[in-house]
Amino acid sequence: MLQVSDSDFEKLANFMITNYGVNLTKKKHLIQSRLNAVVSNGKYGSFSDYVQYITSDRATKEDLRVIMNKLTTNHTYFMRENSHFEFFSDVVLPELEKKYESKKSLAVWSAGCSSGQEPYTLTMLMFDYFGERRKSWNLKMLATDISNHAMSVAKRGSYTEEDAKDIPAEWKNKYMTRNNGVYTVTPEVRKNVIFREFNLMDPIKFKSQFDVIFCRNVMIYFEADVKEALVKRFYGASNDGAYLMIGQSETLDKDVTPYKYISPATYRKE
Ligand SMILES: C[S@@+](CC[C@H](N)C(=O)[O-])C[C@H]1O[C@@H](n2cnc3c(N)ncnc32)[C@H](O)[C@@H]1O
Repeated sequence: MLQVSDSDFEKLANFMITNYGVNLTKKKHLIQSRLNAVVSNGKYGSFSDYVQYITSDRATKEDLRVIMNKLTTNHTYFMRENSHFEFFSDVVLPELEKKYESKKSLAVWSAGCSSGQEPYTLTMLMFDYFGERRKSWNLKMLATDISNHAMSVAKRGSYTEEDAKDIPAEWKNKYMTRNNGVYTVTPEVRKNVIFREFNLMDPIKFKSQFDVIFCRNVMIYFEADVKEALVKRFYGASNDGAYLMIGQSETLDKDVTPYKYISPATYRKE
């Protein structure tokens, strides 16, 4: 395997923090192994050349995509941290239905959606909750990620038997089709989710203000100040009373966050 020198590693790790928030300063081995094939494919003479190129203005959008696809951790699964989904159905949706009974429109964002399990789960929950009433509602579901590889899996909406093992049978019947052991979400569910490639380090300029933001298991890789600034941007992009859900192993510093703590990993804009 090609070796990266300490100074090149430091340069690349700083580049990742500055541009994507991702802290890989303790992940030298991971960087080396995940980028080995990219560097040795002939286009670059050495790791050093690659680091020089990727951190320069010459790096193309496509090459930046490749490095993000390699260095992001996209691990996710259906029904992950299910207590949030129960809270969403039992508390959040009834609240929003009442709040928006006349305009009949709400907006949810899965920020760092990876291969799509989270936004599809949220859509199925909304479809279940609203039932026939959903036809008169605009249930906006935005799903974003920096990894276009993960997003292309998400857009396809097809999952293996193993991926789908925790999805309730009732949902598989209602919201998925099965073909040769592959489960695919129905077009109705898929069309409800708007997928966008988006770097969470960028200013948030989506058309809607959000009622719920799920940003789970994304900020664990971020430096404290990067996370704090992002949480402030989430707050600014949210309606009053909106919720922010973070990963169950994460917390927000109560002395700095503008959000009110509701329950573990669940916060609210008051
Ligand atoms: C571990 S997955 C979490 C997926 C899902 N939210 C969950 O909890 O199962 C983290 C995702 O965050 C994305 N990510 C990391 N840094 C990002 C950034 N700066 N902007 C947007 N997405 C980012 C990664 O590409 C990855 O898909």
